[in-house]
Amino acid sequence: MASNRTLTMIKPDAVRNGHIGGILEHINKAGFKIVAMKYTKLSAEKAGEFYAVHKERPFYQELVDFMSSGPIVAAVLEKDNAVEDFRKVIGATNPAEAEEGTIRAKYATSIGENAVHGSDSDENADLESNFHFAQTEMFA
Ligand code: CMP
Repeated sequence: MASNRTLTMIKPDAVRNGHIGGILEHINKAGFKIVAMKYTKLSAEKAGEFYAVHKERPFYQELVDFMSSGPIVAAVLEKDNAVEDFRKVIGATNPAEAEEGTIRAKYATSIGENAVHGSDSDENADLESNFHFAQTEMFA
């Protein structure tokens, strides 16, 4: 069910810095089941589409350039209350404000290069999961 799922991306900074394994272990230990996963690279066009909601923000172009700068890991995660619980696990957008022990406190370097993405609502979790995965690539 959509309300038990969220979409994450391990961003190009964390991939470049060798943190895929550490982040996936953190996610598993926090009780999330991986129901879909792929190692991929977004084109600038696809990154712009994914973050279209931020189109008017001053950081939009920087965000698109960064998110298309190297490979990412996209994954759909399942757990009760997935969206809210995962946002607690990843911590604040700005790693300087992220609580100790969160993924961003451990692995992010700046507000722009913040290691991971997590959906901010059930509706967006559904849209974002379908952005990256076909139904046949998600396994309950
Ligand atoms: P994310 O959770 O993936 O969703 C939107 C992204 O925009 C956010 O993580 C950051 O990577 C990026 N972002 C938000 N605020 C800023 C900012 N002030 N400067 C640069 N990037 C930002």
